[in-house]
Amino acid sequence: MGFNSTIYKKALDRLHEKKLAAEKAADARRAEICEKIPRVRELEKGISSSGIRAARAVIGGGNAGEELEKLRRENLQMQSELRELLIQNGYSENVLEPDYACKKCGDTGYYDEGGRTLVCSCLKAALSECACEELNRHAPLSLSTFESFSLDFYPQTPDSSGIIPRQHIEKVFKYCKSYAANFTPDSNSILMIGATGLGKTHLSLAIANEVIRRGYSVIYVSAPALLQKVDAAKRFRIEDESVFDTLNDCDLLIIDDLGTEYHSQYNVSNMYNIINSRLLSNKPLIISTNLTISELDKTYTDRFVSRMTGSGQKLNFMGTDIRVLKKKINL
Ligand SMILES: Nc1ncnc2c1ncn2[C@@H]1O[C@H](COP(=O)(O)OP(=O)(O)O)[C@@H](O)[C@H]1O
Ligand SMILES: [Mg+2]
Ligand SMILES: [Zn+2]
Repeated sequence: MGFNSTIYKKALDRLHEKKLAAEKAADARRAEICEKIPRVRELEKGISSSGIRAARAVIGGGNAGEELEKLRRENLQMQSELRELLIQNGYSENVLEPDYACKKCGDTGYYDEGGRTLVCSCLKAALSECACEELNRHAPLSLSTFESFSLDFYPQTPDSSGIIPRQHIEKVFKYCKSYAANFTPDSNSILMIGATGLGKTHLSLAIANEVIRRGYSVIYVSAPALLQKVDAAKRFRIEDESVFDTLNDCDLLIIDDLGTEYHSQYNVSNMYNIINSRLLSNKPLIISTNLTISELDKTYTDRFVSRMTGSGQKLNFMGTDIRVLKKKINL
C-alpha cells in the first residue's frame, strides 16, 4: 500500500508518542519501586552488569567457560529473586518493563520475523487512520449527530402519493441509527435520494460519527471534492496510489452530493471507477444525491444505479427544505 511521506511521518509520530509514554510510565514505576524496595535497584544493577562481566571474561581468556557458567547462574538467580521480590510486594513480574500499546512491535511499527523486517498491523492501522483524517480534514463531522436530528421538521400530512413524511423519515432515521450501531465492513451500501435540505447530509454525517467512534475507518467526502482530489492525485502522480488505496481500503466510504459535480466525461468515468471498485469488492458505500433514479441512470449508466440499489438499501427523503424552515423560525 502506498502512502505519501507526510502520512507516514504522522503515523510513525503517533506510534512514537505511544512508545515514549509507555517508557516514561515504566521509568516512573521503577523510580517509585526502587525508592520503596532498595534491593530492586541492586538486583537490576547486578543483572545489567553481568553482561559486561561476561564480555570481560571472554576477552580476558583463561578459563572463560567456567567463569561464564558462574555468571549465568548468578544472573538467573538475581532474575528470579527480582521476580519474587516484585510479586511478594504485590507487583506483576514485568512491572518494570514498558507496557507498550502493541506487544508485537513495541510501538515501533516494525517487527522481525525469519530474518525479515515486516510492517506491523498497528502501523498499517495508524497509516489508514491518518490517511482518512487527511481526506476528512474539511468535513463538518462533529455538527450532525443522531441526537440533533429531529422529526419535528417533517410534515404529518400525507403527500400527493399518500405517504406521511414524518412517519416515513422516522423509519429512515431508525434504519440509519441501527446501521451505524451494527456497522461492520460487510454491511450493505445505502443510496440516499431526495431534494435539497431534507437531512441526507445530516444523517450520513451522523452515521460517519458513530462508525468512527466504534473504531472503523470512514471517509466522508462530497462528490466535487472527491473528484478534485482524484484529479490532483492523477496530475501530480505523487499521491496517486495512496488516494485510490485509501478510498478502496477504508471501512466505509461516504460520497455526498453525487450529481453536483461537473459532468465531464473525465469526471463521470473517475466517479464510476471509484464507486465500481467499492461495489466489486463488496465494501460498503453511502451515496447521497439530489438526482432522481432516472437522472442517475442517464449520467452514470444504468448498470451503476441498478447495482447500487440492488446490493444496497435505497432511502427516500421527503418533506420541506429544513434549511428554509429553520430560517423562518430563526433556529
Ligand atoms: N431532521 C433534522 N433535524 C435537525 N436538523 C436537520 C434535520 N435535517 C436536516 N437538518 C439540518 O438542515 C440543514 C440541511 O440539511 P442537510 O442534511 O444538509 O440536507 P440535504 O443533505 O438533504 O440537502 C443542515 O444544517 C442540517 O443539519
Ligand atoms: Mg446534502
Ligand atoms: Zn505493532
